Amino acid sequence: MNHYITINDLPSISSAVAEAIALKSDAYKHRSLGAQKTLVMLFFNASLRTRLSTEKAAKQLGMDVIVLNVTDAWQLEFESGVVMQLDKSEHVKEAAQVISQYCDILAVRAFPSLTDKDKDLSEWIIKSFVNYATVPIVNMESATGHPLQALADAITIEELKTKKTPKVVLSWAPHPKALPHAVANSFIEMMQSIEVDFSITHPEGYDLNPEIVKNSKVTYNQEEALKEADFVYVKNWSNYKEYGTITCEDSSWMMTKEKLGTAKFMHCLPVRRNVVVEDAVLDSDQSVVIAQSNNRTFAAQLVLKKILENG
Ligand code: CP
Repeated sequence: MNHYITINDLPSISSAVAEAIALKSDAYKHRSLGAQKTLVMLFFNASLRTRLSTEKAAKQLGMDVIVLNVTDAWQLEFESGVVMQLDKSEHVKEAAQVISQYCDILAVRAFPSLTDKDKDLSEWIIKSFVNYATVPIVNMESATGHPLQALADAITIEELKTKKTPKVVLSWAPHPKALPHAVANSFIEMMQSIEVDFSITHPEGYDLNPEIVKNSKVTYNQEEALKEADFVYVKNWSNYKEYGTITCEDSSWMMTKEKLGTAKFMHCLPVRRNVVVEDAVLDSDQSVVIAQSNNRTFAAQLVLKKILENG
């Protein structure tokens, strides 16, 4: 594997999940693989889990790690042919090549603007690094996808499922801020790639990108969708059609213990208690959010290992 931009970059999802689970029993087994190799992690946005789990994964492979929050660096210009007389001091063409000299793998987090749909869908930031860097790029959440999270979610479902084909529901939840579509997009793509009975439920008008949803089942009736679910993945996203806006604040979409039934509760975190999900769910044994965040380490370790093995 060269870059990891979407889950489709994995040679085999089932093998990746199995191999990531195997890494958990001997996390330092491959510590010589990353010796004298460096991972640079570039953050355009805040992070708790991605930053720490990816650094831990790299160190378990023997890598050195350098983290740069881009707010501490020169503001980058991404457009070609511009006269750089305003606030941008450095072009990504130079920056990506310079950073590549300091590392063997470059991981980037860059959220969408949620104001310019076409630009966000073009993935202009992460694609600029793919174009101009001379080392492999890892997506630590881009405008439209969060493939490290989706791999961790697939690992979690594989570890906790009690039947061959569990019923998995992605359920929208309210949120006071307009949030990206990346987590939902990558989770949908992952569920379409593994053996699950998958459906999506959200308020009318909150349909996600049809090129991602494809023929996955969608219902606007949350109660109907949740019946006999084994896993319920709760996530807010802003309106995709009326791009980046909030057109529903209906608190009845919040996940409750009563609605969850006997299903396991999943969320990528961070999560707003008693807005997205009530305390009674998060504080119960049915919540697997801590296991999900632990699996972020092994998802990242699997991805870094595959890239290092590629040379
Ligand atoms: N789930 C996730 O990506 O968490 P962070 O934003 O804290 O990295």
